[in-house]
Amino acid sequence: MPYLVTAALPYANGPLHIGHIAGAYLPADIFARYLRLKGEEVLYICGSDEHGVAITLRALQEQTSPQAIIDKYHPLLKESLSGMGIRIDYYGRTSDPLHHATAQHFFLRLLEKGWLEKRVVEQFWDPQAETFLPDRYIAGTCPHCGYEEAYGDQCERCGALLSPTELIHPRSRLTGAAPILRPSEQYYFRLDLLQPFVEEYIHQRQWKPNVGPVVEQWLKTGLAARAITRDLSWGIPLPLPDLQGKVLYVWFEAPLGYISITQKWAAQTGDPTRWEHFWKNPDAHIVHFIGKDNIVFHTLIFPAILIAADEGYTLPTAVPANEFLTLEGQKLSTSRRWTVDIHKYLQVAPHRVDELRFVLTALMPQTRDRDFSWEEFATRINNELIATLTNLIHRLLTLIWRQGGEVPVTPTEALLEARITAARHIGKRIEDYDFTGALEEVLQLARRANKLLTEQSPWHRSPEEAQSIVASYGDILAAFGTLLEPFLPVTIAPTLRSQLGIDTFPWQRLCEPQVLVDQLKLKAPPTPLVQKLTSQELQMMREKLLPLPPSVPPAQEFISLEEFQKVRLQVVTIRAAERIPKADKLLKLTIEAADGLHVVVSGIAEHYQPEQLVGQQALWVSNLAPRTLRGIQSEGMLLFAEGEGGRLVRVSPETSVPPGSPVR
Ligand code: MF3
Ligand code: ZN
Repeated sequence: MPYLVTAALPYANGPLHIGHIAGAYLPADIFARYLRLKGEEVLYICGSDEHGVAITLRALQEQTSPQAIIDKYHPLLKESLSGMGIRIDYYGRTSDPLHHATAQHFFLRLLEKGWLEKRVVEQFWDPQAETFLPDRYIAGTCPHCGYEEAYGDQCERCGALLSPTELIHPRSRLTGAAPILRPSEQYYFRLDLLQPFVEEYIHQRQWKPNVGPVVEQWLKTGLAARAITRDLSWGIPLPLPDLQGKVLYVWFEAPLGYISITQKWAAQTGDPTRWEHFWKNPDAHIVHFIGKDNIVFHTLIFPAILIAADEGYTLPTAVPANEFLTLEGQKLSTSRRWTVDIHKYLQVAPHRVDELRFVLTALMPQTRDRDFSWEEFATRINNELIATLTNLIHRLLTLIWRQGGEVPVTPTEALLEARITAARHIGKRIEDYDFTGALEEVLQLARRANKLLTEQSPWHRSPEEAQSIVASYGDILAAFGTLLEPFLPVTIAPTLRSQLGIDTFPWQRLCEPQVLVDQLKLKAPPTPLVQKLTSQELQMMREKLLPLPPSVPPAQEFISLEEFQKVRLQVVTIRAAERIPKADKLLKLTIEAADGLHVVVSGIAEHYQPEQLVGQQALWVSNLAPRTLRGIQSEGMLLFAEGEGGRLVRVSPETSVPPGSPVR
């Protein structure tokens, strides 16, 4: 059963950052490496997504052409991925003529099969630039959450999918002009008619807990026909004489890149039909690794295209989407420069690639958003990777070295059992797309071995006893050379294997009770697999990789201590409270302050009964200029916290203090 593993084709409009790696490329790599060790036939393909407004907008910003943008970023993406040890068998690009041909084939096929329909739609036109505006080129206020910078296709604050006509006060991002509606012809893909087929497909598959409900929600809402052409000059031209100047919608053609890139790979193997082994084979597995924003395209629209084409295509087996990684509590953002870019990381810490893989696997946002921070990065490396795993390995290697560098391998039942169980559990977790859990199983095995070794303390034993203890760990050491390979394949696993003078084992062997090797022979004194991360190094990395503090608040938002001290605050005790006739919201409160009684009118009548307040303490701003409300002079102001739904809650000291106590 061949496996085709894919990871979302990254837009060639900017560098890759840690969020991309943790979201798609690393889980796909762990999965593919594990399958290869299992002896499965695996092809991991990926490539640059080079069309669409992601590219043209970037060209506009950098004042250059789309072609220049993709030619700049395509190699950068490719190098970043290989630098991270992401072993992709073929990395293609959607500007490839073969991809254009494949996408055009699908368009014509869908047209022929009756799934496309030409419709005239009202579309925004920029009167200043004299051009139709793609949805992304329009900004305005989100009708759902009021965010003023929402785009015509999606609100990035609340995530709602939008159409540009829904925006309140739309404006062109090209010129800032108010766009006007004009009729334009587009081809629509009749997803509405395909819904029953898509539903059947969806219900034949298993979905991750963070994916299934999203898919069900879409189906419940009902799939709507979608325009699959765009008024844009950058992209794949329609393979028809009509609708000149329009291109295929990027989300129609980019997923077809998975097919065209497989075709590209096949061509270079010398057998151009070999792609069908994956794409026209009911026994093949196709697994798409993506981020959560891509779920609908991979679970519904892409399968719908494959179904509609009716040429016997393999439908995706699974779409293990991940949620998002945040960086020190904030959303990653290339435009706000709040990211850790991979090409920079590779320059700053070229010898710490496996360390980053380790941390990103531990923090992988598999079912919920997870946060990456530099603190966490250091802790995971020093206290987990090193303290639990590589120290154990180093201690054992050192013991072997001290015994002449050569030991027979004679594992105890317990150690053999531990290795077998770990290998099975790790495999199971990976097959369930739980990579954090799989890594945890690796650490669990190391913890067990550590505990046993400490109990046995070969350091305090006679040489003969020490020798037999050490010999019992040879099998686990050899196993680590393979168990670590899916996760830490760049330096750690290969270095361990070369120190032991062994190769990887087929995964299956790790799950069986035969001893892996009969003896171990070290050729050189062992060196630690990972160097401790010092605070200086961490500091250096943080400064080089994350130059900006998170979204600097504008200077005028700070106030000086002097300004703050102008506000006079004290604790007061409420002595009397009464309603004010004809004022539903106001209460008249008599308070005892440092210098005697005062009257304050507070807008809290909807939140408190007067009797609830009498005898309670509150915080009072005493030097706010007095105002007259409903004929009553109100002095200063009492402070209330605003809870959910605007509920007001009295703010008071933790324990009662004499009325008039100052607050500073
Ligand atoms: N470029 C898209 C993104 O970064 C992903 C495209 S995946 C594919 O969100 F299916 F279209 F290839
Ligand atoms: Zn919104």
